[in-house]
Amino acid sequence: MSIIDIKQVSMIFGTTQQQEAAKEKLESGISLEDVKKQSKATIAIHDINLSIHKGELFVIVGLSGSGKSTLIRCLNLLNRPTMGHITIDGEDITAFDKDQLRTFRRSKIAMVFQHFGLLSHRTIVNNVAFGLEVQKIDEKTRINQAMEAIESVGLKGWEDKKPHQLSGGMKQRVGLARALVTNPDILLMDEPYSALDPLIRRDMQNELLSLEDNMNRTIVFITHDMNEAFKMGDRIALMKDGQVVQLGTPQSFFANPANDYVKNFIQDVDKTQILRAKSVYNHFEDIPLHTQSSEEILTYMNDKDLSFTYLKDEKDQYAGYILKDDLTSKTKDISSLIQTIQPVQRNQYLKDILKEFQDDFRSLPVIDNQGRFKGDITKSDIIEAIA
Ligand SMILES: Nc1ncnc2c1ncn2[C@@H]1O[C@H](COP(=O)(O)OP(=O)(O)O)[C@@H](O)[C@H]1O
Ligand SMILES: [Mg+2]
Repeated sequence: MSIIDIKQVSMIFGTTQQQEAAKEKLESGISLEDVKKQSKATIAIHDINLSIHKGELFVIVGLSGSGKSTLIRCLNLLNRPTMGHITIDGEDITAFDKDQLRTFRRSKIAMVFQHFGLLSHRTIVNNVAFGLEVQKIDEKTRINQAMEAIESVGLKGWEDKKPHQLSGGMKQRVGLARALVTNPDILLMDEPYSALDPLIRRDMQNELLSLEDNMNRTIVFITHDMNEAFKMGDRIALMKDGQVVQLGTPQSFFANPANDYVKNFIQDVDKTQILRAKSVYNHFEDIPLHTQSSEEILTYMNDKDLSFTYLKDEKDQYAGYILKDDLTSKTKDISSLIQTIQPVQRNQYLKDILKEFQDDFRSLPVIDNQGRFKGDITKSDIIEAIA
């Protein structure tokens, strides 16, 4: 299900005259190259069409100047698109008036920047609480919420320090805490880790991946680093010269690179080092509850032509599997027939999962770090992906 729909969005920079000229020429249908030459305007992004799904970590990757920041800034209207529409949760944000926009920015969406943007004279907790202060939320509530956010990014104990007392990585965590404090549905991150050194950067990437499962939140993450893109993204949009060259899962880039540009872009990526279960597992819409009757479970398996099925509990937690051969419609109590197998984590590396396969079992269940069932993965899925 999509949360953000970007439809035919273009963003043109320049004088009003240049913008109008570019717009007119674009609409007349001459080539983008010619429009750029003739109008002298900067067409930073052109005709972007994307749907971003609820709960996914969506990565926008591309070289410097390809239009990534311009695009992400359209999502909270820091940039107002010159053309096109952006719908978020079904509402056209490009049509928002001032009040609607203010509410939207306070509650629904937040942004983390590469250069932190902390207020140097304020303590960490007051930096994090700043957004709540602007909303005139009382001090006790805002400090409580800020402390919660500080804890969630691992900075407990640092709340009374000033920004200059913190390392770059820690400052970036403060930036994240500040974005999380209003509990937004959507988190925008514009090259948040590009300025950090590689080890800190890896820690931050891993933490964000597990935070993602905890938060159940949609993240739009920008990077110019292909390795980071593949490591982080559920899906990736590769941009070049203001347009999307390819869109898909990490695995789909390797399986079907759209053109030579994409091939070149990915050629230095070491798949075995970065691909995770989440890039290749089979997503399941729904599986039976472990409390359902044998008849219902059999019907489910027959409809889908399955010889076994995974089961979940009331909280969507993985609850084992059951073989069709063990069931008849008259089985009263199925609990004794439920078997279990160690699930793999969505964020586990494929190379590590491979070791866990026993030859006789056809697939392994995949869970997120909250234990929620997500789907399954087979040995051949993995071998195909890293081959
Ligand atoms: N405010 C602006 N005014 C004029 N040109 C801009 C502005 N912001 C971005 N651009 C231009 O738009 C293009 C895309 O920039 P940007 O979105 O920042 O790319 P990226 O984030 O991928 O490096 C560049 O040519 C840049 O110079
Ligand atoms: Mg940028």
